[in-house]
Amino acid sequence: MTTTQRPLASIETTDIPTAHRMRRLRRSEGLRRMVRETRLAPTDFIYPVFVTTGHGVREPIPSMPGQSRLSVDQLAQEAAELRSLDIPAILLFGIPESKDAQGSGAWIPDGIIQQATRALKQAQPELIVVTDVCLCEYTDHGHCGVLADDGSVLNDASVELLAQTALSQAEAGADVIAPSDMMDGRIGVIRLALDQGGFDDRTLLAYSAKFASAFYGPFRDAADSAPQFGDRRAYQMDPPNAREAMRAIERDLAEGADMVMVKPALAYLDLVREARQRFDAPLAAYNVSGEYAMLKAAAANGWIDEERVVLETLIGIRRAGADLILTYHAKDAARWLARKGA
Ligand code: PBG
Repeated sequence: MTTTQRPLASIETTDIPTAHRMRRLRRSEGLRRMVRETRLAPTDFIYPVFVTTGHGVREPIPSMPGQSRLSVDQLAQEAAELRSLDIPAILLFGIPESKDAQGSGAWIPDGIIQQATRALKQAQPELIVVTDVCLCEYTDHGHCGVLADDGSVLNDASVELLAQTALSQAEAGADVIAPSDMMDGRIGVIRLALDQGGFDDRTLLAYSAKFASAFYGPFRDAADSAPQFGDRRAYQMDPPNAREAMRAIERDLAEGADMVMVKPALAYLDLVREARQRFDAPLAAYNVSGEYAMLKAAAANGWIDEERVVLETLIGIRRAGADLILTYHAKDAARWLARKGA
């Protein structure tokens, strides 16, 4: 192959149709900004936080650099920071004092999430408190529901405890209840329990299309919620299934979900797009712990430019069709966006 440029015999560059010169719109940041199709703002984010027992605790999570387990007394400061960054919502996960077979730490009135919710609503009433509804952080076996004798997860008995969990979170002041357990029928039963309990004003964000994903690895470290035996494939979705994801979203909306979610985000962007096209309800995507950890690890090694890669990732999730992004990058991204004046 030769590297010398030879003049083209018959084609003059002036023959390139001027109508197709797309670079005209890329010439300056002003033009690029004017024709930008998708926007990313701090108001798109929900920031997940791990709450633990104790006082004055800010314990870094090794597999999620930049994230810490916080004790309840640290939440007011966190809430003020989120408000100052214009991030509208916080998502709470709890690490209880002790665990048992029924996951009672999830639904007792003074459970860790209930305490955290009360503290946040008192410190920063405007901040939206989203509570995760699941038993896996609270059961000694680490599964998302209660077990049958053969070790399988019982559906309906679990739904009862999940509804009790949701109700106690609402009583504590949660604005948005987000069931992530993947039991069948939980959205309808939780909606009914909330309505009968006098909480028909509380919102349900259903983890509808939640896959049995290896990308949750760092989360399970952080929340100490890895199953002690087996895995979650008998209740979370099988990654190859797209049509089933649409059925799950449709069902959850029919049962009363106000918002729906696809989780994880990056390996499932096709489903974010499809859900956006099929359903008009607000759509969330969860940029999960493994997705976060990968970028943090590559950035720490100097292999990628963290700011650019994170913002590119988040805009990609928005471009696919998500209205809301649950992401551990939220605070950093909000700071970067503010600096850019975006
Ligand atoms: C609870 C729950 C999990 C995540 C959110 N809620 C873990 C799991 O299902 O194993 C994962 C979030 C993340 O990885 O960031 N069931």
